[in-house]
Amino acid sequence: MVMNITIQKGDITTFATDMLVLSVFENTKTLGGAAGIVDKTLAGLLAKEMKVVGFSGKEGSLLIFHTHGKIAASRVLLIGLGEQTQCSLETIRKVSAIVEKKAEDLHQRRIASVLLGVGVQGITAKDAARAMAEGALLGSYQYDKYHDEKAKKKAEHGLEEWTIVEKLAAQIRGGEQGLAEGILGARGTVLARDLVNEPASVATPWHLVEHAKRIAGEQKNVSVEIFDREEAQKRGMEAFLAVAAGATEEPYFIHLTYKPKGAKRRVALVGKGITFDSGGLQIKPDNHMATMKCDMAGAAAVLGVFSVISEVAPNVEVHGIIAATENMPGKSAYKPGDVVRAMNGKTIEIGHTDAEGRVTLADALSFAVTKKPDVIIDLATLTGACVAALGEDIAGIMCNNPKLCTRLLAAASESGERLWELPLAPEYASLVKSDIADLKNISSSRYGGAITAGLFLQNFVDATIPWAHMDIAGPAFAERESIPYIQRGGTGYAVRMLLQYLKSI
Ligand code: BES
Ligand code: ZN
Ligand code: ZN
Repeated sequence: MVMNITIQKGDITTFATDMLVLSVFENTKTLGGAAGIVDKTLAGLLAKEMKVVGFSGKEGSLLIFHTHGKIAASRVLLIGLGEQTQCSLETIRKVSAIVEKKAEDLHQRRIASVLLGVGVQGITAKDAARAMAEGALLGSYQYDKYHDEKAKKKAEHGLEEWTIVEKLAAQIRGGEQGLAEGILGARGTVLARDLVNEPASVATPWHLVEHAKRIAGEQKNVSVEIFDREEAQKRGMEAFLAVAAGATEEPYFIHLTYKPKGAKRRVALVGKGITFDSGGLQIKPDNHMATMKCDMAGAAAVLGVFSVISEVAPNVEVHGIIAATENMPGKSAYKPGDVVRAMNGKTIEIGHTDAEGRVTLADALSFAVTKKPDVIIDLATLTGACVAALGEDIAGIMCNNPKLCTRLLAAASESGERLWELPLAPEYASLVKSDIADLKNISSSRYGGAITAGLFLQNFVDATIPWAHMDIAGPAFAERESIPYIQRGGTGYAVRMLLQYLKSI
């Protein structure tokens, strides 16, 4: 995150910058606000140009205007915000990302604008600023560690400074708060994206351990404990270790704790941490394996949250739990038909070695329960069935507690992350029962695979603890570009919604 976004008091119409960004709602008859004033200074040329090229203010539409020295900025970028009645935080995020990209295309290093969308649809200065920071910073994200040319181009021509210039002191204060929140959310998200994008040969279980240790060193009130294979064995994590049996990379169980003074509630965040999912002995066909470095996106989201947690400073104790291993068909790999006992004592028949996520989560959730949390939330790239049900952009959520579900859906709506509830249908619970063990890691039905996976996990949480399971197999990794502030690859899904949720309790 090289780009800087700040807010200051001043008059945008006379602000000296490389490019002045002015926003216009769709179908506005006369240019108002800052755009109106700048248009006047430019003797009506801006409005004329809009007419000539047919610029209507459609969401995300752009118009470049060269000022030829008539005002302090050498260019004006008009950006359409769409219909005023449709303007939301998501509009602001998207538009901010589009502006950022345009500035970069045009090699503009410094741009300035007012707070976008503030005042419409009840959008406060704080919310607008947060959305702008999220859109601009996430929009400028690029995974270029192994692409020198892209990295060089970004360093030479990328946007460096976005200054928000506002007249009212009251809006500055809210704006500053919003920017601070937005920047932290983006920072956590960027770490999650980087971890997912990193090749599986680099992002090994030990790599996740190193990040957890670094975070514990950097964030106040955060500590970490790591269990190696032997320690996990001692603690009865046979299910986790069964998946790890075929791995070349050593597995590690990671437990992060954030414990601020005076916290009354305790939340456990559990992330699926399969650093590569080959399918195991029941190996995946090639096209299904191609993106399986993403199978630790749940773990990456947990690390993303922890990487900024003491700065976000929620007044709640948070446990971050990751059972990290590869799923590989090594010579000691677990086999279909094996039976393993999870930490909570329940036995699992392995029906399919590619349904490994739920097997590792059985121990991660059992461990979470021992911490006696008030809430457990797990995040997992768990099933292709969830992607089939909800598509690539929407995650599924299953809950044993409607209140928790409502809160998480609200947090997701606030952060602009698409989330939809699926039922933990008790009538399907018998589909994951086994003849020879308590449970089987595949369903005896071809249908409803996202739900039966959730029902399997339910056996490892305490019915008295509110628990939510998020299947993020779709939105954790983007195979196409559909949202301007989300690039192909790791998306950092759930980091911002979780921070939002933690702040709200
Ligand atoms: N990691 C996969 C799920 C997945 C699919 C994640 C697509 C991201 C994108 C998971 O471990 C898996 O292989 N699930 C199987 C379960 C089946 C064998 C019961 C699946 O969904 O096919
Ligand atoms: Zn799998
Ligand atoms: Zn998997």
